[in-house]
Formats: sequence, structure tokens, C-alpha cells
Amino acid sequence: KVMDEILTAVRQVARTDTTVLLTGETGTGKGLIAQTIHRLSDRKNKPFVHIDCSAITPNLIENELFGHAKGAYTGADEANPGRILQAHGGTIFLDEISELPLNAQAKFLTFVQERYIIPVGSTKLTPVNARVIAASNRDLENFVREKRFRSDLFFRLNVIHFELPSLRKRKEDIYQLALFFCERFSLQHQKPFSGITPKALEVLNNRPRSGNVRELQNMMMRAILFSDDGWITP
Ligand SMILES: Nc1ncnc2c1ncn2[C@@H]1O[C@H](COP(=O)(O)OP(=O)(O)OP(=O)(O)O)[C@@H](O)[C@H]1O
Ligand SMILES: [Mg+2]
Repeated sequence: KVMDEILTAVRQVARTDTTVLLTGETGTGKGLIAQTIHRLSDRKNKPFVHIDCSAITPNLIENELFGHAKGAYTGADEANPGRILQAHGGTIFLDEISELPLNAQAKFLTFVQERYIIPVGSTKLTPVNARVIAASNRDLENFVREKRFRSDLFFRLNVIHFELPSLRKRKEDIYQLALFFCERFSLQHQKPFSGITPKALEVLNNRPRSGNVRELQNMMMRAILFSDDGWITP
């Protein structure tokens, strides 16, 4: 139900160029929704650039995002356009945005407001037309209170906000999702799938799952791989 409402809103928002903020626990589908927004937008044939801020060393992140001029520092033999420019015409998806260091947050705010970037070691403004989607599994408002996240950037990102529900809050979706994954993996791995026994479903419904949909997906993958007769049992 909550998810249906989100998907309806996603369809409406996708066609506009508004900035979208996605929050929710790990594995609730933030990445999937970001891709869906891009796919349903007029930008679908342009790049979708996914940047996981938690996966980049903090002191390299400005280079990675905004690029650098040739000779910006020792060893910068070539200019690097940066990932934001790569998203020109398309969508830039800033994942785990809570992990963006404060100095990079300031630069990113400039981009979100003014739609240009200044590569490291350059003075030239480079206009970039890219739709911004940001995601976080942290409580960003708390980060703002703790001064770990800029409030002005938070308000700029928080235009359209989707909070994706944990699987605990939408138990009614578990069976459909489990079936969907079983059917998919059975096709992918040429394994039989006959059904999920009522006992197995009971376990699925009542087991706490902090990894949310991702964890359910992995469980169904293992269940299909190890089932002999295609029945998913507890
Ligand atoms: N409604 C859904 N239908 C089918 N697959 C889904 C659905 N929601 C999530 N998934 C799948 O579950 C997995 C986890 O989703 P996703 O990576 O989007 O989560 P996330 O919120 O970005 O998690 P994290 O915070 O850990 O990055 C993915 O493989 C995704 O394809
Ligand atoms: Mg993700």
C-alpha cells in the first residue's frame, strides 16, 4: 500500500526535473527507485551516473565529482571531466550522501543551486544539466543537527522526499516479492520452482529482516539453488 503510493508518485515526479531525496533502511530499494525515476524520465537515453559517496576516499571525492584541470596538482597530466559532467543531459545519483565531506557538500550545493561546476584547479565555470537524485540510509536531519551535514544542502535536496518503508512495515508485500524472486532465479539458474509452502511463508513473514528486500532476495536465491523438487520449505 505505502509502496503503491510511492510508485504512483514516482511516475508523476519522474517526468519533471525536480531533485529527489530517497531515504530508508538498507535494502529497501532506494537504488532501484533512483534507476526507475531515470528510466521513466525524458532523460532515459542519457547517462545515469551512480556515485556511492561511501565508497570513495574522502580526499579524492572532489576530484571524482567535479573533475580537475590538467596540471591541477603534481601528476595531473590529463584533465579529468569528473562524474557530474559525465551525467550531462542525464541523471546524477548521489548515493549515501551523508558520507559526503563538508567541503564537497559546499561545492555540491553550488552545483545544485547554480547548475555549474568548477573543476579542481580551474577557475572556469562548466555548466552541467543533470537531474539530481540523492539517497541515504542515515537520519539526515540528525546529521544536520550534529553539523555533519549542511542544512542548506539538505533543504535543497529535500524537495521531493520518498521514505521507503522497511519490510517489517509492509509484511503484506513479502509473499509477492518472494514469489517474484523465486520465479526469476528459477529461470536464471534453470532450477525448478513449484511454490512456497505455508510453513515457509510463515517463517518469511515473521522473521525480522534488517537487510529488507535485499536479504529476502538473497534468501530466495539460496532456497531455489538448494531446493531439489522446487518447493521452498522452512
Ligand atoms: N520492490 C522491489 N521489487 C524487486 N526487487 C527489489 C524491490 N525493492 C528492492 N529490490 C531489490 O533489492 C535489492 C536491494 O535494493 P536497493 O539496492 O535498491 O536497496 P537500497 O535501499 O539502495 O540499499 P542500500 O542502502 O544498502 O544501498 C536490489 O537487488 C533491488 O533490485
Ligand atoms: Mg543502494
